[in-house]
Formats: sequence, structure tokens, C-alpha cells
Amino acid sequence: MDIRFRGLHPLFAAEVEGVDLRAAESCDILERVRAGMDQYAVLVFRGQPLTDADQLAFAQRLDGTLHSKTGISALQKSRLGNEALTDISNVTDTGDIMAREDRRRAYSLANRLWHADATFQDPPGRYSMLHARVVPPAGADTEFADERAAYDELPEVVKTQIDGLQAHHSIAYSRQTLGFEFSEDEKEQLKGAIHPLVRTMPRTGRKTLYLASHAFRIIGWPVPDARLLLRDLMEHATQRKFVYRHAWQVGDLVIWDNRCTMHRATPFEDARFKRELRRVTTLDIDRVAVAG
Ligand code: OGA
Ligand code: MN
Repeated sequence: MDIRFRGLHPLFAAEVEGVDLRAAESCDILERVRAGMDQYAVLVFRGQPLTDADQLAFAQRLDGTLHSKTGISALQKSRLGNEALTDISNVTDTGDIMAREDRRRAYSLANRLWHADATFQDPPGRYSMLHARVVPPAGADTEFADERAAYDELPEVVKTQIDGLQAHHSIAYSRQTLGFEFSEDEKEQLKGAIHPLVRTMPRTGRKTLYLASHAFRIIGWPVPDARLLLRDLMEHATQRKFVYRHAWQVGDLVIWDNRCTMHRATPFEDARFKRELRRVTTLDIDRVAVAG
């Protein structure tokens, strides 16, 4: 396979040409995709006719262990029959468009807040791979922000101030900012996780912010100071110059690195049109060689 990367943004994100992901099995090709991820952090593969099984198998070949249950099971649909496959759609288990009041709809609407996947868990998500099966005629793009570039452009005093800080992430917090309420039982399942606010990417040595709308406190800081710092950092990190916006076509597979990017969904007419994508996310742990 003759794999080529074509940059989509001045800072990050590339389209990858010349690869059929179903047949991407050799060590060499997988390593070239990983190297592309190190450089670009978001990779777009067009025209990939993947089945669920193809998508799961490719994710394991590329990055090892899969994340399962990235949220509350009662709020995630089960029609796909595999806990490592997340149903990113506005349809019910029977394939009908969800009612406006459906609790699962409210839960997934929070994907419109800037976030990285599963930062409220430990280990969190590393690569997410989202595959488009049905797309609406307009809207519903996904935006990505490069947090390495955002880190690089922080003033030195801020870099010094945030060095070594730890943030607590909780999905209960980010959902509550949209008015979503959890039962006591659900809250019990959602204690969240603590992660460094600045991370160093292991293979490139580049530093990156590690932010998400799930972050709600900084260990050892008064809550208001922590929330204000987190807001300032989110505002900085999501400036348009750091953002690539992806317009979906059926058959697209987009991979992003949750350690050094944030992403968010954008609106569409979700009471009128169907949108169905499937996501597989890997665990941010040492890579276990599965193939090649
Ligand atoms: C996700 C996600 C955004 C979108 O799949 O993790 O946040 O546009 N998706 O569907
Ligand atoms: Mn997400």
C-alpha cells in the first residue's frame, strides 16, 4: 500500500490516501498510521466500507486494548451488542429517530461540549475511531482542537503556573452543566478520575494541555480559582486557529488522539434526519502488540 498524508490544517489533521483499513495489517502500514497520529493527531480516511467487526479489528491492530463502557450503561443503547462499540446516533434501538425528551438524547447532546473521550475514567481513552454510516444532509460536522499547539502558545508564566497540576474530571459535572440530572445510584458510578493538566506525548516528547468540559476541580486549589483557570484554558485552547472542522461523508473513518486534542459535535436537524456513527476507543495504557 502506498500511504500518503495530505494536511488539512496548518497545525494538525491530515487526510490519509491509499489505504484500505480492512487490509491494513502489516507492521509497516500500522506503524506509518501511528507515526501519522503522532504528527497530525487527527487522521481522516475516506471511503472505508467497514463492518462493525472490521472497525473493532482494525482498532485492536492499531492500538491494542479497547475501551468498553465509556459511560453509564442504562444511558447507552445496546443495539450493537458489543460494549466496545459506542452508538453515536440519534436513533433508538429500533432505528427510529429519538423523541426530543428521550433521556439518552439529552445525555448524548453533551457531545457538543468540548471534550476528550473518557477523561473521567482511569485509564482514559487514547485513540477514538469514529465511522460514519448515515449522515444528515446538512450540519453535524465535528470540530477538533489541537491542544499541543494551544500549549505551545501559552504565555511562559501560565506554563509555569500549570506545571504539575492535576485536574479531576467527572461526566456527572459536564452533563450537569447542561441541566442533565443523575440519580444517586448513577452518581455513585461516576466518581470521575484525576489526570495531569499538562501531559508529555511519549513518542514525540511534545507537551500538550489535557482538558475537557469534564474537568471541574484542580487538586489543592479552591474551587472558584480552579474553575476560572479551567475556563481560561478552555477558551485559549479552542480558538479558531487551533480548530479543524470535519464535514462527514458516509464511509469516513476519523481517528483522533484524545491525549492531545479535544473535539465536539455541532448541531443539525436531529428531529428530522438520522445520523448514525459508530465509535471504538482504545485504552490509554501501554500498547499491547496484537498484530504484526
Ligand atoms: C464521539 C463524539 C462527536 C460527533 O463520538 O466521541 O464526541 O460529532 N462525537 O458525533
Ligand atoms: Mn467524544
